[in-house]
Amino acid sequence: MAARDIDNLIEKYKSTMIDWRRHLHKFPELSYQEHETARFVYRTLEKLENIELSRPTPTSVMARLHGCEPGRVLVIRADTDALPVQEENDLEYASRKPGIMHACGHDGHIAMLMATAEVLASLRDQIKGEVRFIFQHAEEKYPGGAEELVQAGVMEKADWVIGAHLWASLKVGTIGIGYGSIMASPDGFRITIKGRGGHAALPHQTNDPIAIGAQIVTNLQHIVARNIDPLENVVVSVTQFKAGNTDNIISGSAELSGTVRTFDPKIRRKISQLIERIAKGITEAHGATCIYNYYEGYRTVINSQEVTKVIADTVKEVLGEEALIFVRPSMGGEDFSAYLQKTPGTFFFVGAGNKEKGLSYPHHHPRFNIDEEGMINGVRIFVHTTLKLLG
Ligand code: NI
Repeated sequence: MAARDIDNLIEKYKSTMIDWRRHLHKFPELSYQEHETARFVYRTLEKLENIELSRPTPTSVMARLHGCEPGRVLVIRADTDALPVQEENDLEYASRKPGIMHACGHDGHIAMLMATAEVLASLRDQIKGEVRFIFQHAEEKYPGGAEELVQAGVMEKADWVIGAHLWASLKVGTIGIGYGSIMASPDGFRITIKGRGGHAALPHQTNDPIAIGAQIVTNLQHIVARNIDPLENVVVSVTQFKAGNTDNIISGSAELSGTVRTFDPKIRRKISQLIERIAKGITEAHGATCIYNYYEGYRTVINSQEVTKVIADTVKEVLGEEALIFVRPSMGGEDFSAYLQKTPGTFFFVGAGNKEKGLSYPHHHPRFNIDEEGMINGVRIFVHTTLKLLG
């Protein structure tokens, strides 16, 4: 089939895809609780011929499409979970579930991948090998569904993996991509300071864990400023500071926690050690003690040269030269990195922002929404990339 005919075929799915996305938007489900979402995907794809369905974990779905001849295996992944956010959009299809919202666009990811599966199922005679569609639960909540699915064997014999995120800060009509490191490792840490509290009128009888904690916060700034090469991309932030419960008592403990974002595993280890050294050194200097915990989050997402080039070329051919945007790495994390441990692949961004339509709220915001026109571009890139890799 010629490229134009394929695009006409994709275009036919547009209104169905929008209906799917709006239905999913109305009934969002939190991480690890995507039961209805998985059932919806399963029931819809069940009607297709040539698709073999399974449920690798209680809230995920895998669909396998075997082409007309044996060949290599391409995995395409969509994440399916929503967030604990109260939607503030005034939409006919706004969330019907109080306090839960598809505020990251994963509803659109599901709809895009379902449409991709339908289109490719009808192009089976042009496919050599296998396309594996993964509807993955729990991207938003560590340890994440990807790792679990890899353990369940969804990457067995896979040659490549691709995935995309609808992206509000990219204009609809564009596709953002990058070679190499594209998303950071999002880690966390907690420092619990245990000292001596007491009467606020007798401060000399305490060692004041709040004052100690304040010095730790200040000193942690030196990690990025004075210990890491300025050309590296790193974030160290204290995001919570909890201590005390009244005005006239000096608290006997304080708890700080925060986030670390890195791209390089060596720097990641170094930062964890530096935080510990600073926290322990300062608390000890003031006669207190501390308990330190560091939590490793997802691995860094590193895009392969080979697959990234195929997708970039596809974008130029299908959407035009000006649609392709090489984006800077994001300090956000993605459990897509779990699949990349098994096989090379690429994660890219599908433009879904549109200021003229008022669609410019950031991801995770109560008024976040996508320009649904972006979804069709995502499907076109998925379909044409598949045909290139397996055609
Ligand atoms: Ni997301």
